[in-house]
Amino acid sequence: MLRVAVVGSGPSGVYSAQSLVQQDAGVRVDVLDRLPCPYGLVRYGVAPDHEKIKSLQNTLRTVLEHDRVRFLGGVQIGPAGLPVTRLGELYHAVVYCVGAATDRRLGIPGEELRGSWSATEFVSWYSAHPDAVTDGFLPGVRTAVVIGVGNVAVDVTRMLARGVTELSPTDMPQAALSALAASEVTEVHMVGRRGPSQARFTTKELRELGTLPDTKVTVDRAELELDPGYADPSALPGPQRRNVEVLRGWAADAAPGDTVRHRLRLRFHLRPVALLPDAADGDRVGAVRFERTEPDGRGGLTGTGRYEEIEAQLVLRSVGYRGVPLEGLPFDAEHGTVPHLAGRVLREGVVAPGEYVAGWIKRGPTGVIGTNRPCAKETVTSLLEDAPALVRRELPGDPLAVLRAEGHVPVEWSGWQAIEQAEAELGASLGRSVVKLSDWGSLLAAARGGTV
Ligand SMILES: Cc1cc2nc3c(=O)[nH]c(=O)nc-3n(C[C@H](O)[C@H](O)[C@H](O)COP(=O)(O)OP(=O)(O)OC[C@H]3O[C@@H](n4cnc5c(N)ncnc54)[C@H](O)[C@@H]3O)c2cc1C
Ligand SMILES: NC(=O)c1ccc[n+]([C@@H]2O[C@H](COP(=O)([O-])OP(=O)(O)OC[C@H]3O[C@@H](n4cnc5c(N)ncnc54)[C@H](OP(=O)(O)O)[C@@H]3O)[C@@H](O)[C@H]2O)c1
Repeated sequence: MLRVAVVGSGPSGVYSAQSLVQQDAGVRVDVLDRLPCPYGLVRYGVAPDHEKIKSLQNTLRTVLEHDRVRFLGGVQIGPAGLPVTRLGELYHAVVYCVGAATDRRLGIPGEELRGSWSATEFVSWYSAHPDAVTDGFLPGVRTAVVIGVGNVAVDVTRMLARGVTELSPTDMPQAALSALAASEVTEVHMVGRRGPSQARFTTKELRELGTLPDTKVTVDRAELELDPGYADPSALPGPQRRNVEVLRGWAADAAPGDTVRHRLRLRFHLRPVALLPDAADGDRVGAVRFERTEPDGRGGLTGTGRYEEIEAQLVLRSVGYRGVPLEGLPFDAEHGTVPHLAGRVLREGVVAPGEYVAGWIKRGPTGVIGTNRPCAKETVTSLLEDAPALVRRELPGDPLAVLRAEGHVPVEWSGWQAIEQAEAELGASLGRSVVKLSDWGSLLAAARGGTV
């Protein structure tokens, strides 16, 4: 019987488990995660107001409830928990689906000032990730700058403009809901270094900004006109053309006298060069300095030597995620991924038997949830080709029994269900539906039947 460990219960991990049980009638799969909760970024990244996408958790759940799949949460793979080498001894094969947990840096002066955060940190906070570092994003903030024009930038911009009526029905933690309800942010600038036709956001997500209550979206017409696709959008590929068309509508619509609670200003052709301290409090960010750019004719940009400052008490850097090395696995530091061949891990260019990768740690941090399904399938196809050789190795016994004997206390599926129950009860006590638990103590107490 083939025994496989999948490390990470995000989309790529769950799709790997699904592909394994669908293609091999005898395989047994343990899906391990460092968190006591499954689903990776579907639980801790997808914005709480995107309930339809969040409900994909129900599809992922059916895989984790399959009778040849076990969820083992609260098990950190790596030196602080279960080392990679030991994990490899317990299973015939291991598929690493650990995602890309950290943020890319801008590498410009002032990035460390108070009030400058990565979008990753902000998302973790409103998603109730138990490792979230702070809740001090919003006090004293009137104007925010979001750097980057990808879908995460759109998410965080939208969350800054959402009202309590729209957020209250979500599973957002109570503290984040209260902070957003009390927020005095009136203006958010979302800024791209290149032109609108090179923005990474998708049209559906962009359009949604224009539907937010009590909110006006504006686009600087001169910045739009700089875009090579502005004059003749019909020459652009479909997704870019649709983005440019939406943005053109907002440029035409920019009436200055509107009284609304939030103003979202979409800016382009501005490259961040420094975060500047506030005049009264030198440790805190007060503005972002940008260099105006122009298209270089090849899809890139050139600096113009002209600069512009945008005042901001909050800066969210949304310039992409980044994989982190896992001790014991090879790592390509340039791309933040594990080197592989069709999902087989490469150690110094040579296939490492029994080690595989899927998802963001394999491809890099781009792609929607569905992109991980074919990615996982490719990896599982490689694994099952290798399986006849791998399965010859004798294992020390049921991995769960061995883990327990070695002092690990995994959160099993019943533990996760207890967390779900505790979150439903918390929601009911607050007059809301489900409300997420946001700290390790509460999650583990709920999972292990203790007091929340
Ligand atoms: C903020 C944000 C919002 C998004 N919103 C959408 C959206 O609305 N729609 C959409 O289609 N796509 C969205 N995406 C993209 C989508 O979330 C990703 O494509 C997908 O989650 C990548 O899956 P993954 O399994 O590779 O990684 P992840 O989902 O990150 O899962 C990785 C898992 O590995 C676990 N792990 C990490 N290290 C270890 C370790 N050492 N030991 C044990 N476990 C470990 C983590 O706890 C996590 O559960 C969003 C992405 C982000 C960042
Ligand atoms: N609703 C959804 O479907 C949804 C929601 C969230 C996320 N996602 C997906 O998750 C993935 C990750 O999204 P993401 O937004 O983190 O990444 P992304 O799509 O790669 O966007 C990153 C943005 O950061 C900019 N950037 C990078 N380095 C920069 C720098 N030094 N200075 C200024 N700007 C810089 C990029 O500009 P350049 O293009 O110029 O490099 C780009 O605008 C994407 O595939 C996304 O579609 C999907």
